[in-house]
Amino acid sequence: MSWLLTLGVIAVLIWLLKTFWPNIRQRYFAAFMNYYTTQPNPDMDKLKKDLFSPLGSLVSHDPELRKNNAIKILEIGVGTGVNFAYYPEKSRLVVVDPNPHFASYYNENRAKFPNIQSEEIIVSTAEEMDMVPDNSVDVVVSTLVFCSVGNTEKILQQILRVLTPGGKFIFFEHIREFDTERHGMRRKIQGFLTATGIWPFLFDGCYLTRDMLETIQKAGFSKVQAQRFYNPIDHIVFQLVTPSLKGVAEK
Ligand SMILES: C[S@@+](CC[C@H](N)C(=O)[O-])C[C@H]1O[C@@H](n2cnc3c(N)ncnc32)[C@H](O)[C@@H]1O
Repeated sequence: MSWLLTLGVIAVLIWLLKTFWPNIRQRYFAAFMNYYTTQPNPDMDKLKKDLFSPLGSLVSHDPELRKNNAIKILEIGVGTGVNFAYYPEKSRLVVVDPNPHFASYYNENRAKFPNIQSEEIIVSTAEEMDMVPDNSVDVVVSTLVFCSVGNTEKILQQILRVLTPGGKFIFFEHIREFDTERHGMRRKIQGFLTATGIWPFLFDGCYLTRDMLETIQKAGFSKVQAQRFYNPIDHIVFQLVTPSLKGVAEK
């Protein structure tokens, strides 16, 4: 009889975990990202200033926005909204993220940038962002998003669809270790933590073993300028996410 009770308790525990874990994980991850991204990081600041510098000279496809010297930006996987500081004044910002628990952090952040006309988060994956009209944005931004998406190719096709001709896709992503001679051990650890599901479990579906450069190059952009590099991060655990990719692709 007692084994029946034990089985029943285990079954209920598994059911509870399966039902509530995705929500708990999303909540915890949003809080973690908020903590992590609010720590001072001069290297990241420098990197972003450089990455977003093409926005300063961009002219909108939309005559109304052009009159006001403004551009329209779509940021996918916006999270807490860490990139506001790098957007030109008067930008119009549309944002997409599937995790609803980022909304409060994002809203807090956007209130600090009244000169950017930002909208509430559209709760959706970038794969499913069909609500964003074709040829409607001047720039798409993605920072640290592709590590955890379901379908990279589909997102790139969505980005090409929503970008106006000549529009730019600006990206910065952590990727799989690319220097196997000097950092083979890091690559092995990335593989182990991803294959065992430990890292995706802890970091809301993040994979350490992706490198989206080739996929971006093959997606159909007219120009791709990209660079693999090491993002300087002090924390020992986050040495695993220092191999990175940044660049700009043009529709
Ligand atoms: C590591 S966080 C990065 C957040 C923010 N971009 C930054 O640079 O701090 C990854 C973000 O991607 C979002 N995300 C995950 N899968 C996604 C998908 N399929 N489409 C769009 N965003 C996604 C997550 O909810 C999360 O906000």
